[in-house]
Amino acid sequence: MKKMHDLDVNPLTDIAICCGQTEAFAAAIFADVYVALDPPQWTLCPGKLLKSFTGRTKAIVLNSPHNPTGKVFFKEELEVIAEACCRWDCLAITDEVYEHITFDDKKHISLASLPGMQKRTIITSSLSKTFSVTGRCPTLIFLCPLYCGIISSWRIGWAIAPAFAASAIRNIHVKITDSAPAPFQDAALTALTSPPEYFEGLKKVEYVKELIKEAGVVAVPGCGFFHTKLSMEPSSEASCNYQKRYVRFAFCKSIATLAAAAQKFSDLKNATKYEQP
Ligand SMILES: Cc1ncc(COP(=O)(O)O)c(C=O)c1O
Repeated sequence: MKKMHDLDVNPLTDIAICCGQTEAFAAAIFADVYVALDPPQWTLCPGKLLKSFTGRTKAIVLNSPHNPTGKVFFKEELEVIAEACCRWDCLAITDEVYEHITFDDKKHISLASLPGMQKRTIITSSLSKTFSVTGRCPTLIFLCPLYCGIISSWRIGWAIAPAFAASAIRNIHVKITDSAPAPFQDAALTALTSPPEYFEGLKKVEYVKELIKEAGVVAVPGCGFFHTKLSMEPSSEASCNYQKRYVRFAFCKSIATLAAAAQKFSDLKNATKYEQP
């Protein structure tokens, strides 16, 4: 770059190696500015959000309920985001795949439902989390590759947007994957018209409490994470220590890896006399 364009490029910090220009281009388009949330409750600081907007901001991306923190945005926080979108005339693109999985009485609120937001919000979601068809399960693949490929990875998702945006998304969708498989779309219709009890049954609060009690780990997502007394004291020294203890434990791993992780958690718990919430 120096020889060709007289540009100073730091090879350690200024380069991302991608799979061809196509991915580099796509990744560059998707690159964005992050607004960090404040631990321990992952609170949105209005000042930080507003500072991130400029005259060139076209859209903001919001993932709520959020993976991996479990944060479910409060109405007051969504109001701040909505107000900023309206003020800067921005679109909002939401990722709401965990919409039905919250572990307490804090119901997920879609940003689109706030005044003035439906006309500027693109909601994206899918069957993956609500119906446990997120991807391939290594154990099932090992036992029965064909069966697993069919039942655990449906890849049906959707964007719900004002007509002008939905039409543009459909045009791009045709170029990317052409269409979602028709039989799975039929199955999706059946799944999505499940009775309300099905969706209620996803809030396995007892299971999550058991996980915390027995294994000392918490499940993603859900504010259920931060219900310890410790997490309610954001400025105390104790809560700072609490922040340093975050560990991300992904379930989409081989059974051997999960067993090794469980063993390590158990050893750690015994070694540190971890105080149960
Ligand atoms: C927050 C979030 N959004 C989206 C996805 C992917 O969803 P899909 O399986 O529908 O592509 C995931 C999967 O891990 C996720 O955690």
